[in-house]
Amino acid sequence: MLSVVPSPITVRAPSKVNLHLGVGDLRADGFHDLTTVFQALSLSDDLEIAPAGSLAVRVSGEGAAEVPTDRTNLVWKAAVRLAHLAGRAPLVEIAIAKGIPVAGGMAGGSADAAAALVGLNELWDLGLSRDELVAVAAELGSDVPFALHGGTALGTGRGERLLPVLSRNTFHWVLALAKGGLSTPAVFAELDRLRAHGTPPRLGEPQQLMQALAFGDPKQLAPLLGNDLQAAALSLKPELRRTLRAGVNAGALAGLVSGSGPTCAFLCESEESAVSVAAELAGAGVCRSVRTANGPVPGARVLSGETPG
Ligand code: C5P
Repeated sequence: MLSVVPSPITVRAPSKVNLHLGVGDLRADGFHDLTTVFQALSLSDDLEIAPAGSLAVRVSGEGAAEVPTDRTNLVWKAAVRLAHLAGRAPLVEIAIAKGIPVAGGMAGGSADAAAALVGLNELWDLGLSRDELVAVAAELGSDVPFALHGGTALGTGRGERLLPVLSRNTFHWVLALAKGGLSTPAVFAELDRLRAHGTPPRLGEPQQLMQALAFGDPKQLAPLLGNDLQAAALSLKPELRRTLRAGVNAGALAGLVSGSGPTCAFLCESEESAVSVAAELAGAGVCRSVRTANGPVPGARVLSGETPG
């Protein structure tokens, strides 16, 4: 009898920026309660998933040398978890082509885990529903459910409880990638330290920001962007102040640290403006490299008949 070997599956997973990141107090479980508005961006990673004799993770592209390829990689954990649920062995090779900066505050590792869940559900023909995948995603990390969801969403709890947010139009971003990364736990701990020694300002609720998203006007949105982790990221990497200033001087409507940093995200008025801000930032010597991106884009999805790129 002929046995059919499934062909490799390619999955694209988006990065994210937090348009609003309100951080509550430290909880007993070591996490912080968040009120956040995520937007999925076109800067993404592609995963190629193929049947293999044993589980293996390979990484190429942006920051590949810093990504572990062993059981500590979130993709490895996703494969083991899903295989366990399916009652089978995780016999796959997963090749990650990174476009999202590593340890950059753009949820690159979470995006890869979400892509692995979507891809393996298809490769192994598991037929798990979105809700079932979201439950596994939330066990893997706070940002993994959003990487499945995509678009624009309000996140509460650890950031894993999501509600879609109406967002009109496409927004144009410039991303300034920093030299070196920041550890997410270290940035949260720095915010706790700053709060123990003073009263850094805290963001209010994101109602106005959500209205601006529904309206679709970047000029209205720009002054409402905010991130409680920014003070902590700047405290650990003071040179980011120069990067933020340079982006606004180059013509961006606003700039903020993305998530726990150190990537800085700049909202621009149009695609043309983003290209010009990116060119000026690249020449200013205030970051390692510069990317343009747009959002919102869909969550992790299988590319069928599309050229990965
Ligand atoms: O959930 P994830 O593994 O991405 O979280 C990494 C770390 O970031 C946590 O161990 C915690 O230190 C910090 N974190 C937090 N509050 C959140 C999410 C993450 O303190 N809501």
